[in-house]
Amino acid sequence: MSAAEWVPESPTLADLRSAVQECRGCELYRDATQGVMGEGPTPAPLMLLGEQPGDREDREGEPFVGPAGGILHEALADAGIDPEATYTTNVVKHFRHRLSGKRRIHQAPTSKQVGACAPWLAAELDLVRPAGVVLLGGTAGKALYGSSFRVGEARGHLLDWPEAIASATLDPWVLATTHPSAVLRAEDERQATYDGLVADLKVAAAALK
Ligand code: URA
Ligand code: SF4
Repeated sequence: MSAAEWVPESPTLADLRSAVQECRGCELYRDATQGVMGEGPTPAPLMLLGEQPGDREDREGEPFVGPAGGILHEALADAGIDPEATYTTNVVKHFRHRLSGKRRIHQAPTSKQVGACAPWLAAELDLVRPAGVVLLGGTAGKALYGSSFRVGEARGHLLDWPEAIASATLDPWVLATTHPSAVLRAEDERQATYDGLVADLKVAAAALK
């Protein structure tokens, strides 16, 4: 499984956005409304990397426009990061879900699906050329560092760009943090979870200066 044959050569972001609609690199295109490419300036100093589009993103065709995106944008503002200066994307471009009646319930993508989708992310990295990459949650962390990655251990301090994805021209720092959807799920610990997200994003904000 790989998206490689659907990724155009030397693409613009508009090229990627239209080409991803044709992708058959894994089975996830079948039940999704559309592919959701990243969004933001190219180049950009900071890339924010989530898991996959959610229900709203799948319908609207843009990343982080649903409830998790609301938390993310609030946290970026509280950390002093201009959301307009960031490029936001996901490791997987189609929404993986199951049906419960009419409701579409999020399901995390498998590592095979993440691997299949990686050529799109590689193309985005070539365009965005970020100085730093913020990993939002475990799926993004595992996509870069492998299955042993744990957000709880890795979060809050700058990491080196993984050797496995070494590139001659790209060497951004990496900052891992919790996924903003964890704030939505946290109930009692909601404020503490949110504060942790903001504290981590402040580390990224400082590294950008
Ligand atoms: N969660 C993600 O990881 N990405 C989105 O785009 C929306 C929700
Ligand atoms: Fe292609 Fe990624 Fe969609 Fe799978 S999830 S079909 S690899 S764009």
